[in-house]
Amino acid sequence: MIKLNDAYVTPFLKGNIRDFQPFVDNIHNMIHNKTGKGSDFLGWVELPNTITDQLPSIQKVANRLKQYDVLVVIGIGGSYLGTKAGLNFLETPFKQTKPEIVFAGHNMSSTYMVELLNYIKNKNVAVNVISKSGTTTEPAIAFRLIMDQLKERYSKEELQSRIVATTDQARGALYQLSKAEGYDQFVIPDDVGGRYSVLSPVGLLPLAVAGYDVEKIVQGAQQAYQDASSSDLSKNVSYQYAVLRYMLYQQGKKIEMLASYEPNMQYVNEWWKQLFGESEGKENKGLFISSALFSTDLHSLGQYIQEGERHIFETIIHIDTPTKDIEIQKQDNDLDGLNYLAGKTLSYVNTKAEEGTLMAHQEGQVPNIVLHLENVSEASFGYMMYFFEIACAMSAYLIDINPFDQPGVESYKKHMFQLLGKPGY
Ligand code: PA5
Repeated sequence: MIKLNDAYVTPFLKGNIRDFQPFVDNIHNMIHNKTGKGSDFLGWVELPNTITDQLPSIQKVANRLKQYDVLVVIGIGGSYLGTKAGLNFLETPFKQTKPEIVFAGHNMSSTYMVELLNYIKNKNVAVNVISKSGTTTEPAIAFRLIMDQLKERYSKEELQSRIVATTDQARGALYQLSKAEGYDQFVIPDDVGGRYSVLSPVGLLPLAVAGYDVEKIVQGAQQAYQDASSSDLSKNVSYQYAVLRYMLYQQGKKIEMLASYEPNMQYVNEWWKQLFGESEGKENKGLFISSALFSTDLHSLGQYIQEGERHIFETIIHIDTPTKDIEIQKQDNDLDGLNYLAGKTLSYVNTKAEEGTLMAHQEGQVPNIVLHLENVSEASFGYMMYFFEIACAMSAYLIDINPFDQPGVESYKKHMFQLLGKPGY
């Protein structure tokens, strides 16, 4: 489902990707035998296979939540971005899912919260509150504020039908609170970190509520698992990608920009940024992660990419078969001068823009790794998520980093809690 075209990167490489095979073999064994740094958090590796047992209960609860008008999904970071990525990737633009999915707890904007509370106040509302730790400030505040409204509107029994918590199996404030109130709970396994949790109930429940086929998402992930089961670099595309980005990093390319020519990739970009940025950016190491949507951003970032400092490489996700297409028709007067495109489809023009940009950026000394994703479907979404997760683990281990912790994230929290007067800070 994902193929790699190395034509726009190979001319830049010093060395041969095959030279990395022994390192890759070693790390592949570390991942599968759980012997590397952070090995307590490798539960996501088998998730495409282990999650199948839970799909009936996820679907059952999703069917119940589907009767409401709006599902508020509360969460941040890994408890938010996977769902958002899935919805954005799979959605039909300009068409609302039923129920509508809205998000909270991914920021602390008072304006956003007040507008959200106003928006839902006359609607038939359900909530999926997601937090592995159960103590993260942003979703905890959002849940409290939203529940203040919902408790005014619904009885305790009604709330038990409408509220579902996805959290730890035994710890944390959210676990305690939802147990005390009798809300349904889904478990985020101990050994699955937030940014690796999209294929758990964290992502699958809200995506099922939005009407997407979560079995197909999981089947796609299982396919990616199979395709990544061999460490052989001539077969394993995830590892090819990981090694290529490592080689470019070693050669002084310190910034990776993920770019696509389809707007439904916007939140896959955001999810990917968290996955790689939070996994690799430690010990003064790691690529800086950025993203763009072309051709839109060719009219903003394009100038820098072409002629700015030469520390960037790009990873392009090309979607081979667009979901929809349209042909450009001939016009008699040709006042806009576009008749040279008559008979061509818009996707053809988009692809030529991509090919032209690859050539231009290569001339500008910007290497490009091109990943071809088959289509836009539930299966390709599941495949892509797992593809990048396993590539990220390989990448982080290549620079000798624990891919599964995020010690640096605590610093801002410590200062914020001091400023807020939280007890113990
Ligand atoms: O990847 C991670 O672990 C983080 O981004 C978390 O997902 C994020 O901080 C939210 O944490 P929690 O799910 O505990 O509320």
